[in-house]
Parts: sequence; C-alpha cells; structure tokens
Amino acid sequence: MKGKQGKVLLIDDEKSLVEVIKLGLEEEGYSVDGFCNPVLALRRFNLENYDAVITDIKMPEMSGIEVLKRCKEYNPRILVMLITAYSSVESAISAIRGGAADYITKPFRMEELVLRLTEALNKARIKERYLNLITEKLKEYEIIGKSEKIKTIKEKIKKVSGIDSHVLIQGESGTGKEIVANLIHYYSNRPGRFVPINCSAFPSELLESELFGYKKGAFTGADKNKDGMFKIANRGTLFLDEISTLPLKLQPKLLRVIQDMEFTPLGGTKPERVDVRIIAATNQNIEELVENGKFREDLFYRLNVIPINIPPLRERKEDIPILIEHFLEKTSERLNIKKKTITSRAIDKLLECDWKGNIRELENLIERIMVLEDSEVIDIDLLPNLDNRKPLSDSINLNHLEREAIRKALTMTNGDRKRAASLLGIHTSTLYRKIKKLDLE
Ligand SMILES: Nc1ncnc2c1ncn2[C@@H]1O[C@H](COP(=O)(O)OP(=O)(O)OP(=O)(O)O)[C@@H](O)[C@H]1O
Ligand SMILES: [Mg+2]
Repeated sequence: MKGKQGKVLLIDDEKSLVEVIKLGLEEEGYSVDGFCNPVLALRRFNLENYDAVITDIKMPEMSGIEVLKRCKEYNPRILVMLITAYSSVESAISAIRGGAADYITKPFRMEELVLRLTEALNKARIKERYLNLITEKLKEYEIIGKSEKIKTIKEKIKKVSGIDSHVLIQGESGTGKEIVANLIHYYSNRPGRFVPINCSAFPSELLESELFGYKKGAFTGADKNKDGMFKIANRGTLFLDEISTLPLKLQPKLLRVIQDMEFTPLGGTKPERVDVRIIAATNQNIEELVENGKFREDLFYRLNVIPINIPPLRERKEDIPILIEHFLEKTSERLNIKKKTITSRAIDKLLECDWKGNIRELENLIERIMVLEDSEVIDIDLLPNLDNRKPLSDSINLNHLEREAIRKALTMTNGDRKRAASLLGIHTSTLYRKIKKLDLE
C-alpha cells in the first residue's frame, strides 16, 4: 500500500506540520520525504524522482515560490502544490500562473489536502498519457522525405494544424494523403478524435446513415439510435477519404452541415450541433469533376479552403533512397526479421522506375523482398522486372476498379446492361446488383 499512490516531497518550516501531513499522506498510500529546510529539500529533489512537491510559501531560508521555480526549471512537468497562510493567498494565485498545480490555505483538513493532491495527480497523469499518445502518433505518421516538395508540405501541415479551416488533400494513390490528414489532426490541439471514413466504401443510403447517424425507427431494421461519424468526430477531425466518390445526392446535405455545423440524423426531428474539422482527400482530379457536373462547385469551394497537393513519387525521386532505408528498418522491426542492406546499383534501378503506385508500391516491394528473399543484400537480381510489371500495390481500391470497369462497359454499350454484362464476363443480374451496390444508377 505504502507509496502506491506516488512519491511526494513535502516542505514546511513548521516541524510539527511536516510530521502530521507526512503521516496523513502515508496513511493514504503516498510515500513522503519531509523537510523543514527548503534548501536541503531541493538538494534531495534533484536526486529523486518525485511525482509531486508540496511546499509552504513562507519559509525563512527560501520562499515556496522560489522552490516552485527551481523545481520547474529542473522538471517542467513536476506537480507543485502550495500551502499558504490566508494572508498570502495573492502570491499563491500568481504562483498558479507560474505553473503551480494548486494551493491550499492554512488551516486545512487533512482530507482536503489528500483530495486535492489526488485530483491534481490524476489530472497530470491523464495529461501525461495524452501527451505520450500524441508523441507516439506523430512518430507513427512521420513523413519521410527531404525533397523541397516534401519539406514544403511538412511546413504547411504544422502551419494549418493550428487553425480549424477545412483542408482538401489531393494526390495520386499511395502518395501519403492519409498520413498527412493524421498529422494535421495530431499536431492540432483538437481534443476530439480523428475519425476516418472512406466515401467509396458505402452505397449511398448506407453512407448517409454512417455520416449522420439515425434514430430508432428511422427505417426497418433501425432498432436503436446510432451515432453518425459527424457526432463521433465532435471536437475532433473527420477525414472524408475519396470525397470525389460522394454521391451527388448526398452532396447538398454535406454542404449544409459544413455551412451550419448542424445536422439532423435520419428519422430525427431536432438538428444537432457539432464542432468538426473536415479534412477531405481525393486521388481524382476534382476540379475536372466539378467542370463535368459530377461534383458540386459550392461544396468543392467549402472543402478546398486549404489545398494540399502531394506530388507523386516520380516527381521527387530524391526521396527514394531514404524511403527505402526507412522501409527496410520499419519492416525488420515490425516483422522481427534481420534488416537487409541494398546495393547502390539496386537503388539506381529503383530510381529509374516511375512508381505509379507511389510510396505504397515502394513500401510493398521492400516488404516483399524482406520477407521472401534469403539473401542479406538486395542487389538488382532480387528486384522484379520493373519495366512492364503488374501493379505491386495490393491496396488499389477494388470498388474503384469495379466502378471504372462497369462505367466503361456501360458507355461502350450505350447503357445496354445485357451487353455490358457479357462484355464484363458476368451475369446480367450480377451487373444489376453491382450497379446498385456501387450507386451507379
Ligand atoms: N512520406 C512518407 N514517409 C513514410 N511513409 C509514407 C510516406 N508517404 C506515404 N507513406 C506510406 O505509404 C503508404 C500509403 O500512404 P497513404 O495511405 O497515406 O496514401 P494515400 O495517398 O492515402 O493512398 P490512397 O489514395 O490509395 O488511399 C502508407 O503505408 C504510408 O505509411
Ligand atoms: Mg488513402
């Protein structure tokens, strides 16, 4: 039990008070080092790892305010609580501004001190956990690259994360759009969650209920209320991936939510207010879709407040060598296999490639070689034929490919579904089902 709650440094020039508080805190599971002399206490502070410092303000050798300052210099995250006589409440208040977590006025009850300390420590621990999580996320989504183009994007991410304007990220498949969206969220101080949704992954009706949620009884099967992504992302960031596939039918509703930050769930009667930052991404030329009437112009302008265009890998080949190194390292760590090295001849060969699948394709290639090849050195003989290769990327969106193929077949046959189906080599009823599922009506 003793010490389980944390380790406390206690300083008060009144010996009897030190003894009483020490005993009281120890009974509550804290371990306590008590001092009457702040100078000696500080010496100890530098040697030990305390969770909190409780110090009196008025002491002959050194004031508690000075103790606070020195503790913070040594460890900016240390929690300091001040004990003050009624007469010096003013200085305690200014000490809070200087980084003290709390203060308590004499005389006080032991229960009160314990409660305040426990609360302050819990708060500090939650904050610490939160900061660790953010640091972890920023590392997980680190952008590797030293080209000018990537440097500019990194700067832009930091700059825009501080403001809440909506962002539209454009770039070919595999260029890092999702990474950029995550980074913007984790650099920002938005307290809510990062909620990704891929607009191409749902047929129209389902997407609507995914985004806005529904009330019990809104339709057959709606046997309870369900929160939509907008609500889940409240005070956070909603990442609308593949926004260009958002059905025209849903676009006005999204536009309204963006304008008013208010939406009504399906079957609901009251609009609900939310505070959501939107980051949208697309690998299609959305301006072209606007010109062709496939995407609403007003919605496009609402989303495109801050445009971020990620260039394809072939336009920043100088990043390829460090990306290779990064993926060799990452794969070896993740799969717990020995890291391989790569010859400069092999790197040169990879520099010649045009990387249609961009960074994802490069990552997949490295992973494949790491897993399948025994040799510890990657030379050109281990590289696949990169001149007329099949796409290495296994992550190209299947819905997307299917949609494209069906569109093409329908155009070629002037909308004759029977002929289109035979062109595609599938049964007519399958084609009908797919048209419905992919919302190609
Ligand atoms: N600059 C980079 N540094 C390190 N890894 C990267 C970088 N850019 C992309 N990646 C990695 O490449 C893969 C693809 O990135 P991401 O999913 O963000 O691409 P995308 O643009 O969203 O692709 P898609 O259009 O197919 O959805 C991920 O594994 C990501 O970690
Ligand atoms: Mg993506």
